[in-house]
Amino acid sequence: MAGWLAVLAASVLGATTDTAVVALPASGQALFERQWQPARPDGGGDGLGPLYNAPSCGSCHSDATHGHGPLSDGVVPAALVITLEAASSEARTEPAGDPVYGHVFNSAAVEGVRAEGTVTVRYHELAGTYYPGGTRWKIRVPEYRFETLNYGPLATRTVIKPRLAPALFGVGLLEAVPDDAITRGAAGARLAWQWRHGARYLGRFGWQSASLSVRDQVTKAFANEMGLTTPDRAHDDCTGRQPCAEPPPGPPEVDEASVAALVEYVKSIEVPPATHAQEEDAEGRRIFAAIGCPNCHRPELPVERTAPDGTRVTGTISPYTDLQVHDLGHGMADRDSTGRVVPSRWRTAPLWGIGFRMSRPERPVFLHDGRARTVEEAVLWHLGEATSEQRLFGELSPYRRAILLHWLETL
Ligand code: HEC
Ligand code: HEC
Repeated sequence: MAGWLAVLAASVLGATTDTAVVALPASGQALFERQWQPARPDGGGDGLGPLYNAPSCGSCHSDATHGHGPLSDGVVPAALVITLEAASSEARTEPAGDPVYGHVFNSAAVEGVRAEGTVTVRYHELAGTYYPGGTRWKIRVPEYRFETLNYGPLATRTVIKPRLAPALFGVGLLEAVPDDAITRGAAGARLAWQWRHGARYLGRFGWQSASLSVRDQVTKAFANEMGLTTPDRAHDDCTGRQPCAEPPPGPPEVDEASVAALVEYVKSIEVPPATHAQEEDAEGRRIFAAIGCPNCHRPELPVERTAPDGTRVTGTISPYTDLQVHDLGHGMADRDSTGRVVPSRWRTAPLWGIGFRMSRPERPVFLHDGRARTVEEAVLWHLGEATSEQRLFGELSPYRRAILLHWLETL
C-alpha cells in the first residue's frame, strides 16, 4: 500500500506515527521543495512565470505548516497571497478574477517583466474587556493597500482576498471524508457546492473550500502562484493586458507524472501528534464542548477509501472541522477595492497540528489572513454564526479560559 493510503490506514487503525510504514513518493517530495526556474532562450529552464509569487511550494508551505504571516506592518510576505475575484460569482462555478490582474496578484516576475505591484498591510489595534473578570484583550484589524499597480487600476468591484498559505497536514485524510458525512443535516448555505462540466462537487480545500480536491488546488497553485501550466490548466494566471496572455507553446510545463507524484506526496503529509498530557486533554476537551465549539470544529469525522487491491479502508479522524463553510460576521468578511464588505463564508479551519505549529521557532499567526497573533485572538474574531460560542468563551472564568487556550495550543 503506497503513499497516503498507508497514512490513512495508519491513522485509522490507531498506529502511532513512529510505526507507520510510509513509502513516500520521493520524487513528489523533491518536486515540493524544488525551486522552479524561468524558461531560458536556449529552451532550457522550467517555465516559471513570467508572473509568479514564489518559485516553490515549500517557500509558502515551509515544512508543510502554515506560511509565515505578517507579524507587523509592512509589505505583505509571499506566503500571504492576495487573491482577486470578480464580484458576484453566484453561479458557483470557478469564479473569474480581476479583468487585468487575474486570480492572484503576482508580486514577482522573471527578468525583463514587471511584477504586478506591491501590497502593504497596516494593523489597527482594537481593545476590549472580558466579563466577568475584567481581563483586557486586544485584536488587530488589517488594512491592505496597493502601493504600486503596474498594469493600471483594479476593477472597482474586484474583491480583495488575502489568504495565508495553510498547513497541509492530513489533506489526504480530509479528501477521504465521504460527502454525506459533510452534508448530513447541514443547511444548504453551509455547503460549498460547485458546478464543473455539468456535475456538482463539494468544495473542501482552501480557506473557503473553493477547491474540489488536492489535485485541483495543486494545479491552481502551479498556474496562479507559479506561472506553470499542467495537463489540467493550460493557462497561467495571465490576462489580455499582460505580457503572457498566450499560453506557452508545446506540452504542459509540468507533466502528468510530476503532477501525480506531487499530489500523492502532499496527500501523504501526516498530522503531527498532539503535544498535551492525558489529564490536560480531558479538561480542555470538556470546556471546548461545553461552550459549543464542536458545533463547527467537529472532533471526529469518518474517512473511507478503496485501496488499489479493492480493500475498503474506513475509520475516524480527529481534524476538528465539519468541512462546512460559515459566516463569521462583517469583521471577518472580504472587501472589494472600494472597501465595501462582501458577504463571505469560511471553511471551519481544522485545528489539528496547532501544537506542532506552536513548537516552531517562527511564531505562527492564525485565521485566513494571519490577522490573529494568538489562538485567543482567533477565537475573539468569531462572530456571525459563532456569536453565541464566542460570547460563552468571553464569559469563562480566566482560569477555565486559560485551560481551554492551553489545550488548543497543544492539539
Ligand atoms: C505563493 C504562495 C503559495 C505557493 C507557491 C503554493 N501555495 Fe499552496 N496555498 C497557498 C494559499 C494562499 C492557499 C490557500 C488558498 C485559498 O484559500 O484559496 C494554499 C492552499 C493549498 C492547499 C490546500 C490546503 C487546505 O487544507 O485547504 C494545498 C494542498 C496546497 N496549497 C498545496 C500546494 C502545492 C503542492 C504547491 C506547489 C505546487 C503550492 N501549494 C504552492 C499558497 C501557496
Ligand atoms: C459557526 C462555526 C464555528 C464555531 C461555532 C467556532 N468556530 Fe472556530 N473557526 C470557524 C471557521 C469558519 C474558522 C476559519 C476562519 C477563517 O477562515 O479565517 C475558524 C477558525 C478557528 C481557529 C483558527 C485556526 C487557524 O489555524 O487559523 C481557532 C483557534 C478556532 N476557530 C477556535 C474555536 C473555538 C475555541 C471555538 C469555540 C469558542 C470555535 N472556534 C467556534 C468556525 C467556527
